[in-house]
Amino acid sequence: MRIIKLNAIESTNTFLKDLSVNSAQEDFTIVVTEQQTSGRGQMNTKWVSETGKNLMFSVLINFNDFSISNQTFLNFAVAMAVFEALNEFKLPKLSVKWPNDILSEKKKICGVLIENNLKGMNISSSIIGIGINVNQNSFPENVPNASSLRLILNEELDRDIVFTKVIDRLKINIDLLRSKEFELLEDKYIRVLYKKNIPSMFKDAENVLFMGKILGVNTTNGKLQVELSDETIKEFALKEVSFA
Ligand code: BTN
Repeated sequence: MRIIKLNAIESTNTFLKDLSVNSAQEDFTIVVTEQQTSGRGQMNTKWVSETGKNLMFSVLINFNDFSISNQTFLNFAVAMAVFEALNEFKLPKLSVKWPNDILSEKKKICGVLIENNLKGMNISSSIIGIGINVNQNSFPENVPNASSLRLILNEELDRDIVFTKVIDRLKINIDLLRSKEFELLEDKYIRVLYKKNIPSMFKDAENVLFMGKILGVNTTNGKLQVELSDETIKEFALKEVSFA
């Protein structure tokens, strides 16, 4: 395992992607930084994080024979690695919001951005970007749903300890993935899925509100399965649905 520590960088995902495109890098090469000048989130959003307070890192995973059709299980493995690591800190009401936000008491404390390099129908390598709000004391008003371990637990944490726990769990879950323990990964994920089986209000891509109940995730296409009021089941891709 090789860890590259940087003070500041545009984005650890971008840095690791460029590095691995130019020359082969060993499995579990990790880039960690104190500050990102262009941190990236899902769906072209920005990931903003206070300098020196939190964790921002990316992990390169090399695969030999991993079909793109199994990428939902990669998402389960990563989300559960962070969940299991953070669970050791006894965070209240910890859950995974589909596809891979980690929430405590309904507040987002971690975001994950997975970017895959493809070779034909296989994923040859993945860059797993993880941002964990560890010791940040306040968040801008425009992100009311964000929080940190520090704010929730009321104590400052050693970021190295959090980092090591996540990497240890990631190794375990990537091993499960490599040995094709797909059902186990899915079971772990579904058990902690936010708002599963709870009637909730959603908003579709056209801002139309509707009631539904999350049932699970279609592991073939990664879409969220929601049961609607008329008991039909509808599947949604990431851009197509959000909680209202
Ligand atoms: C999200 O919730 O939208 C995903 C956020 C992912 C943020 C992390 S921080 C380290 C890595 N580098 C990035 O540019 N993004 C990820």
